[in-house]
Amino acid sequence: MTHLQCVNCQKHFPLFELRFECDCEGLLEVIHEAEGLRDLPQLAEKRLTSRIPADRSGVWRFREAVVPLEEKEIVTQLEGRTGFHAVESLQKWTGSPGLFIKHEGENPTGSFKDRGMTAAVSVAKRLGMPLLACASTGNTSSALSSYAARAGLKSVVFLPSGKVSLGKMAQTLGYGAHVLAVKGDFDDAMQIVRDLAKAGEVYMVNSLNPFRIEGQKTIIWDILQDMNWQAPDWIVVPGGNLGNTSAFGKAIEEAFEWGWIDKKPRLATIQAAGANPFYKSFLNGFSSLQSIQAETIATAIRIGNPVNFSRASRAIINTRGIVGQVSDKEILAAKAVIDRSGLGCEPASAATLAGLKLMVQAGLVKKEDKVVAVLTGSMLKDTDAIMKSQNLTVEEVEADAKAIKLSLDSLRSKH
Ligand code: F0G
Repeated sequence: MTHLQCVNCQKHFPLFELRFECDCEGLLEVIHEAEGLRDLPQLAEKRLTSRIPADRSGVWRFREAVVPLEEKEIVTQLEGRTGFHAVESLQKWTGSPGLFIKHEGENPTGSFKDRGMTAAVSVAKRLGMPLLACASTGNTSSALSSYAARAGLKSVVFLPSGKVSLGKMAQTLGYGAHVLAVKGDFDDAMQIVRDLAKAGEVYMVNSLNPFRIEGQKTIIWDILQDMNWQAPDWIVVPGGNLGNTSAFGKAIEEAFEWGWIDKKPRLATIQAAGANPFYKSFLNGFSSLQSIQAETIATAIRIGNPVNFSRASRAIINTRGIVGQVSDKEILAAKAVIDRSGLGCEPASAATLAGLKLMVQAGLVKKEDKVVAVLTGSMLKDTDAIMKSQNLTVEEVEADAKAIKLSLDSLRSKH
């Protein structure tokens, strides 16, 4: 039977027991029985052409290995139908000819969070939870607000005051969540939500919630399906609270154990240098995690005390992965190139390509390697950052044909 299990002491709990940690305070994860899952890739392939919403979702296409819910229990917005792109300009810029981009910013609310949120909100609805909550740097809150609205549930979100992009704030408000701007940082907001969840006041949908991880796992399976189940050499992802790193590690382990792939890709998590506790811990062999006061232009990953440390370090170790860091300047340079490629992304996402470029320079990634970089959020999530990463101007022009002709002539003469 699918059940919850503590990552520290391995104690078991029923799958839908209302709890977010073990009695020993260890994180919980969903454990699936391998039986019946070995042929899931073939079933998922068939579902690509189905008209049933749960089949068309890039999360629920794999539902037997995500959360075993009935189709009618699933709250879906057809998330996870995201693009897999080979972009020459980005292959050249990073020095990695075998690079593919998985753009999770193409999800319904513009970030990868929809994949985890469809799972967490579906479970919350099944459990009859009246009030859903999260701490967020803006993307989780947008996803929660949207999925809660679709499920007809109330949501409250705790954001670090003044540190969330206007686009994300407006989106979260627009879908209807109650927004509390906490006078503190993300880590303070996270602690508040953990305490409220423990006291039974709210149902927490941060990535401490094991069902969030189950939904986000499907980013990896979707990539593997995009690659016809031939695993790449590397998968590169940005890291903040480390929910994705944890989910990716679990997805890779399971795909390998169930015989879906015959080699494990290596995982590279990239942090912003101003928000790098995981990177520092990697340098000391993950012997400890020192929380820090985080600061970076990539506000999505401005996190100094990642709650998924234990699961995420295991993911890096088990995949022979690495953790890297990049400066804000490197993030903005990568973002400008990604924007100009026509794909576009928000700053946190650009950390992946900035990190990959350094990995190529260091000889860690070889020319012949197949690499998948995950872009986590859409360009429109942070329009301020677009203006900061490039020297952009709008030319004002008189509304007459002569002035416009002059402007077009000067445009044509430019390289
Ligand atoms: N990229 C984007 C665009 C994000 O919004 C986040 C996290 C990350 C990367 C980092 O992912 O936490 O799984 O390591 N955003 C959270 C939020 C914290 O509240 O939206 P992680």
